[in-house]
Formats: sequence, structure tokens, C-alpha cells
Amino acid sequence: MRKPIIAGNWKMNKTPAEAKELVLALTETVKDAECDVVVCVPATNFAAVKEAAEGTNIKLGAQNVHFAPSGAYTGELSADMLKACGVEYVVIGHSERRQYFGETDKTVNLRTRAAVAAGLIPIICVGELKDERESGYTDIIVEYQTLMALHGLTEEEIKNVVVAYEPVWAIGTGLTATDEQANETIGVIRKAVERKYGKDVADALRIQYGGSMNPKNVKGLMAQPEIDGGLIGGASLKAPDFTAVVMYNK
Ligand code: 13P
Repeated sequence: MRKPIIAGNWKMNKTPAEAKELVLALTETVKDAECDVVVCVPATNFAAVKEAAEGTNIKLGAQNVHFAPSGAYTGELSADMLKACGVEYVVIGHSERRQYFGETDKTVNLRTRAAVAAGLIPIICVGELKDERESGYTDIIVEYQTLMALHGLTEEEIKNVVVAYEPVWAIGTGLTATDEQANETIGVIRKAVERKYGKDVADALRIQYGGSMNPKNVKGLMAQPEIDGGLIGGASLKAPDFTAVVMYNK
């Protein structure tokens, strides 16, 4: 059975002092979680979060990683730099990076390979735009984005990767895919991985849903057989909301 994984994606929010306060609150409220718990925070908060989460079940994640080991890449951070700060997970290919920062399926693949080579667990984001869904291209888009991201990894490496299905039209909009839509599209992603890498790999791969997941809709989404967790934006910024999502089965 796949262990669920719920990750907060704080995006560009919180100072170190605010980060510390939130994580200290969570250490008490999520300590009995049955899922893996991750917070993907701005790099300026790594130290504060690492310290506040020390000895707890809350793992540290980043929101991007560069593919080169070092060099003339102003403003970027390498996988080894993240590792050295205690980062274990890294979000790659978030739709906001694809939309605003020129991220492509090629660079998502390069970042994923660099993350895996350094021993980080990538959380690879895939998802269709509103007009792509309305035109009937959802399956093709998510299959292509997923297989391109995984290209060049071994089967064993893919088993340890996390994919987040985030329909772009559901991010930060309050719109959520229905439980059935989310389950169906995640099933499509898993089938594509199965065709290329086999059933063992597809069965091991954890696939999250993201896009306005919150305390109200988490139970229904997590009851779906294909959905192995969530990548949470807005609702991860407040301790009571993130707690309610992480403790969805309590
Ligand atoms: P929201 O939960 O705010 O819709 O954000 C989802 C997301 O983009 C997580 O990566």
C-alpha cells in the first residue's frame, strides 16, 4: 500500500519568524498523522523551519532546484545546497513556474534528474489548463508532462518520486476538481506510467491531488483509491487548516 503524503506549498509567503510560529504550532497538532507531512517553504525559511521541526514528523521541502551542481546561475540553488540545509523534498514544475518563469517539460526533467541524483524526493507537478480540459486534452497533457518529467530515471528511482496532479484551473481559485475527476485523471497518469515502466512502478508511485484542497473537501478526495495525498497551497498557511487536512482521517 502507498503511504499518503500531504505537503504544504507555502509559495512566496512567510518570514522566518512567521514560519517558525506556524511550524511550532503544527508540531503538536500533526504529530499523530498517518501520512507523511511536508512543508515546502521559501529558501529564506529553511533554517527556521528545520529548527522548529527538529525531532518531529514534519519534513522540510523546497519549491524549486537548479539542475547544475554549481556555477554561474545567479539566483538559483543547487540540489546539494538544498540537501545541506536539511531539505528532503522539492517541488518541481509547479504551474506557476511554468506560467511565469518559462519552465518547460525539458527543464522539469533536468531538475528532476538533478534532485533524484542528489537524494532529494521530487514532487513533480503536472496539470492541464482550463481550455485544455474543455477541449478534451487533459489526458494527453498529463501523460506527456509526467512521462517527460520521469525520462531518464530508473524504475527504482521512479518508485520514490511523488507526482502532484494540479489542474491549473483549480489552483488558488476555490474551484476544485470533483472527487471523481481528480481520481480519474490520476488514474490516467498511473496507467501511463504502467504502460512505460510496468505495474510494480505504477503501483508504488505516489500521486497527489492539488488545487484548492482544504478541510472541507479533503475527506472526499482522500477516499478516492487513486489519490495518495495532497499538495496544499492556501490552506497550508494556517495551522488549523493544514492540521485539518493532514489529519483528514481522524
Ligand atoms: P491552492 O491550494 O491555493 O489552490 O494551491 C494549490 C497549489 O498550487 C499547491 O501547489
